[in-house]
Amino acid sequence: MRLNELKIGGLTIKVPIFQGGMSVKVSTAPLVAAVANEGGVGLIGGTGISVAELEDQIRRTRELTNGIFGVNVMVAIDNFLDIVKACVREKVHMIAVGAGFSREIFKLCHNTGVEVVPIVSSAKAAKMSEKLGANAVIVEGGDAGGHLGTNIPVWDLIPETRAAVKIPVIAAGGLVDGGDIAEMISLGADGVQLGNRFVLSDECDVHPNFKKVFLEAREEDMTTIRSPVGYLGSAVKTPFVEKFLKNEFVKITQCTNCLKVCSRSFCILERLKMARDGDIENGLFFAGRNVYKIKDILPVKEIFRRLVEETNEKLAALESTGELPSHKPHEKPDLASSEKIPSQFRKLRKNSPRSQDKTPLPKETPVA
Ligand SMILES: Cc1cc2nc3c(=O)[nH]c(=O)nc-3n(C[C@H](O)[C@H](O)[C@H](O)COP(=O)(O)O)c2cc1C
Ligand code: SF4
Repeated sequence: MRLNELKIGGLTIKVPIFQGGMSVKVSTAPLVAAVANEGGVGLIGGTGISVAELEDQIRRTRELTNGIFGVNVMVAIDNFLDIVKACVREKVHMIAVGAGFSREIFKLCHNTGVEVVPIVSSAKAAKMSEKLGANAVIVEGGDAGGHLGTNIPVWDLIPETRAAVKIPVIAAGGLVDGGDIAEMISLGADGVQLGNRFVLSDECDVHPNFKKVFLEAREEDMTTIRSPVGYLGSAVKTPFVEKFLKNEFVKITQCTNCLKVCSRSFCILERLKMARDGDIENGLFFAGRNVYKIKDILPVKEIFRRLVEETNEKLAALESTGELPSHKPHEKPDLASSEKIPSQFRKLRKNSPRSQDKTPLPKETPVA
């Protein structure tokens, strides 16, 4: 068994490794293009930017690559449909759509050549996506960076999703090396998506302090907080997060109504921007729980070389023993118990019965 090329709709992806879209200008043209140039899929973070900024990012990416790239966008944002329409106008290869469920996007992208790839966190949502016309699904487990739809590790989600759908399944959340990728492939995934690993690349153009926070994060520094969007978010416990977890008052400088629904417990847009610009004291540094395992900043080319080599070695080893991976990377994420749930989100569904954790997740994700 080897890491094979992958077909999604009309696209042939040489190396089935996606760079996860990261909002508020964490994944921008230089990173996206570098990933596409290695045969993977680069995704521009399409949340927290205007349509004009997105069009500029797409133009800059095209100047740097002929490879496959797309845009990641959250259903929860106010300009969601404008961003989708811009992606269709610009004919990007793919839209990865997360933080909510949109039926509208399938209509808008139908017969346009833009492949729709929802980000889901259960086999049930993957099945519903396939029924609506998704070209593939990204299945994101509870170890991922950013907003979380579940606390179940992707190691548990892949086998049941594989059994539920025929479309390609991309595994995400907590994957740091080729050993992890090989495990996903042998559990039934067709490809993978990584976030943390690509933040710690030469081409990711965030402030150096952003990468410093990632490099210095220890396992015990990871936590989850209730985002104003209504989801839990995985972040590094930096001074702002500590303050928020202690329920200290967090001032909002200016609200531009960027979200369809916002609890305004803090302004996630301004805090993510602060992080991007290197403000360790005040920024919110979203990161996947396994960030502490990555200890170097590398060029994207070298990241791909290592990932592909390690994956193929581990796949060969798994094949020779006939074993399927059975371990989980660690316990389920520790959901911060001190978090205060804003009143807008009180009507919440209990967590999956499979989970030991009693922290509620949103009942219904926003629908566009
Ligand atoms: C800084 C950061 C920002 C992110 N922003 C988004 C986002 O805007 N939309 C989204 O769907 N996922 C977002 N993610 C999730 C990634 O796209 C990716 O799926 C996830 O990080 C994979 O887990 P890993 O970091 O453990 O590899 C973000 C992740 C990080 C680390
Ligand atoms: S408070 Fe911030 S995150 Fe919330 S809607 Fe306003 S600008 Fe957006």
